[in-house]
Amino acid sequence: MSAQKPVLDPNLRSGETRDFETSLRAKIVGQEEPVQALVDLYQVFCAGMNSPGRPVGNLLFLGPTGSGKTRIVEAAAEILFGEPRAVIKVDCAEFQHSHEIAKLIGSPPGYLGHRETHPLITQEELAKFHTEKLKLSFLLFDEIEKASDALWQLLLGMLDKATLTLGDNRRVDLSQTVIFLTSNLGGGEITELMGGGYGFIQSGDKPKVGLDEKVERTALEAARRKFSPEFMNRLDKVVVFHPLQREQLEQVLEIELGMVQRRVVFVAGGDGPAVWSAAFEASDRAARGVPFGEPVGDRAGATRRPGLHRLGSQPLQPHFRQRE
Ligand SMILES: Nc1ncnc2c1ncn2[C@@H]1O[C@H](COP(=O)(O)OP(=O)(O)O)[C@@H](O)[C@H]1O
Ligand SMILES: [Mg+2]
Repeated sequence: MSAQKPVLDPNLRSGETRDFETSLRAKIVGQEEPVQALVDLYQVFCAGMNSPGRPVGNLLFLGPTGSGKTRIVEAAAEILFGEPRAVIKVDCAEFQHSHEIAKLIGSPPGYLGHRETHPLITQEELAKFHTEKLKLSFLLFDEIEKASDALWQLLLGMLDKATLTLGDNRRVDLSQTVIFLTSNLGGGEITELMGGGYGFIQSGDKPKVGLDEKVERTALEAARRKFSPEFMNRLDKVVVFHPLQREQLEQVLEIELGMVQRRVVFVAGGDGPAVWSAAFEASDRAARGVPFGEPVGDRAGATRRPGLHRLGSQPLQPHFRQRE
């Protein structure tokens, strides 16, 4: 009898990866390609197949504001490390000048204020959420189109060599780190393509045929126009997020509402079902009353969430006041 050959199937998933995928899909609506990109990356990492001397992955997320680019990183962190804030987040617009770069990497010894600057990216910060089982870190550069030249130089080095040299010459090893980069480039054109004002579209408004491809092409072309080939070549994957459609936005609302309600249960604690069933109803009514035609807050999708949470939890306050 001949021994059976092992089958190498790139689509096979370990149990851990399947669990990760299920949890991620419960938190992220749509965005099939980005979800797959993260699941693939996790699978490669778990199998120990990522290249040594490089970051675990260099991923560029493109797409309009409010489509879930930042959220997917936080959601993955929440699933893997139990904490959505287990991500070092660098808002590129905040690091325009050289003294601001010092906030990121610290200033050289001898400089005024050297001891007071605590670099944002350090080995300790990266290791903060490591567990016995999972020694992986997430580093997110948001809105990279706003990065200054000095920040670009740092970024190029990190993407290529998986190291960062701090102001005091200490080296940060990024070979156990996923580097996420996000950009809204092409977002305006995509919105125009959809013929709408916001980061989501009304289904039925426009024929959908070919729209997905057009959105992807528009985002990729915008990125290639703006970013150097040197940068693009260092990326493992470029993923385009699509504007959310009305039904998808409703699903996002369900997820967000679930989060508000879990918080209500937590705060109401031992007060029994009476308080929180009233509270649920009130928050549900308030949040669902939000017209879909206009996001809560302003144009930016990013402000939808706090707005929703506020609307969802404001009606609860009399209930809690009664308890005091
Ligand atoms: N695809 C999505 N799935 C689940 N929630 C989403 C999605 N897209 C947007 N959201 C919600 O909208 C908020 C703003 O999205 P965000 O990820 O910050 O957008 P951006 O693409 O501009 O980074 C999120 O915090 C989340 O509540
Ligand atoms: Mg964002």
